[in-house]
Amino acid sequence: MVIATAAKTSPRMNPTSAATSAPRTRGIHHLALNTDDIKMTTDYYVDVVGMKLVHAMKIPSGLGTGEGNRGNPPFENLRHYFFDMGQDSLLAFFEMPKGAKEKGDRDALAGMQHVAFSVTPEEFASLQERLKARGDEIIGPVEILPDLYSIYFFDPNGIRLEACCHPKEGAHPNVVGGVAQSRADARAELQTLTGDTGWLEKRLSGFED
Ligand SMILES: [Fe+2]
Repeated sequence: MVIATAAKTSPRMNPTSAATSAPRTRGIHHLALNTDDIKMTTDYYVDVVGMKLVHAMKIPSGLGTGEGNRGNPPFENLRHYFFDMGQDSLLAFFEMPKGAKEKGDRDALAGMQHVAFSVTPEEFASLQERLKARGDEIIGPVEILPDLYSIYFFDPNGIRLEACCHPKEGAHPNVVGGVAQSRADARAELQTLTGDTGWLEKRLSGFED
């Protein structure tokens, strides 16, 4: 989000490492993507993906090309819409001027390769029906890890999307637990990265035996 005034006070910082405790982040606040057709994009994310439009705005003057730009797109008064993607997280889109930008390469460094949404088994099936009704291409379902199934598809902007489903866990998937790995398996991979045993032990401390 780009409109909030910068905080004047810093959050209290704990300089000690929290590598083995809970993450210091709480999850996604918003993921911001680009389109050149916000109406089409709104219809797709509401009607097909199943999100809710919760905030529709234009970015105030001065934040695009003026000194107020903080890394947001360098155009004035862009539309900036927000969708509730569930679990208290937002998906956001900027509407870029038509023709101002070329379609990006999702495999470029610093690009976004894809985004995966977590859905219940019921919604997993329902989403596939909605995509098929549009004639959209779907890859999958693919079992990408034991008991974790995904489909891959593209939104009308060409953004690669994925929907993930844990059939056995119904409406309450254990997303992080579903990718849990033993320390031995993690070690086998991390050892291919470096022979620095101090680094390895530090990074392996968060894994269970
Ligand atoms: Fe993925």
